[in-house]
Amino acid sequence: MTSLAGKIAMVTGAANGIGRKCACLLADEGADLVLIDLEDEALEALAAELDRQDCNAVAIAGDCREDEILERAFEAAEARLGAVDILVNNVGQSARERADEFVGSDPATWRFVLEVSLMTSMRFARRAAPAMRERGWGRIINMSSDAALAGDAGLADYAAAKSGLLGFTRSLARELAPHGVTVNAVCPGAIRTRATEQMAPDIMARVVRGIPMARMGEPEDVARLVAFLAGEGGRYITGQTLLVDGGRWML
Ligand SMILES: NC(=O)c1ccc[n+]([C@@H]2O[C@H](COP(=O)([O-])OP(=O)(O)OC[C@H]3O[C@@H](n4cnc5c(N)ncnc54)[C@H](O)[C@@H]3O)[C@@H](O)[C@H]2O)c1
Repeated sequence: MTSLAGKIAMVTGAANGIGRKCACLLADEGADLVLIDLEDEALEALAAELDRQDCNAVAIAGDCREDEILERAFEAAEARLGAVDILVNNVGQSARERADEFVGSDPATWRFVLEVSLMTSMRFARRAAPAMRERGWGRIINMSSDAALAGDAGLADYAAAKSGLLGFTRSLARELAPHGVTVNAVCPGAIRTRATEQMAPDIMARVVRGIPMARMGEPEDVARLVAFLAGEGGRYITGQTLLVDGGRWML
């Protein structure tokens, strides 16, 4: 028996990058998976890969910001696997390409970023928490960012959303702690996914110079912490903000 055998984990934004690696490591630990992503082909490929390793995987293609997709995901989970035990609120993104500076940005963009990087995680947590509380066991892991702690020029809306996620994490952790449900936030630093692969080489080199461990992180570096928090190792850890950034920011 592996440590998450019998548990059901839901990962938002699961088809690529950090979310994909979280799904794979949770499956390695024995969990069954509910995967949600906009990209249906990549999602189906992941579900097929997990199926081959004896993980029951349910894939829901769609936009996590939509209530209908959220409901479809939870209903499919409940009908085919059972109630969700572990929620990895991974989905989130910036909109750097739309404006370089806050003064040139617009409220419609802020709303998009806040919706995808904060509100969506709040909605998924609200839907998942009652069943976790009822069963006296649950894990909610919110993917924040080191931009929440350090700020990032050109990403004011994103940093606001990811900081909001930290306050949300602490408050929800207090509400759910008496019921055996932990809630934590993980803050990746510069992780090698397609979101960072588009960086110009000189910017990438500058980023790496600021990392004591002198390399970009890999999705697996983040996913290992997520899998740890999801398992028994995380049973007395709640309301925390945990950085995975090669030492870029030290609290
Ligand atoms: N990569 C980094 O350096 C880094 C650093 C800090 C925080 N993060 C956070 O980690 C999380 C994952 O980032 P990543 O770099 O792996 O991104 P990624 O672009 O590699 O993957 C994100 C996945 O989410 C999916 N997705 C995006 N919006 C969606 C939506 N509305 N509904 C459903 N699916 C959606 C995409 O299709 C994609 O498969 C994000 O919350 C991001 O803010 C990443």
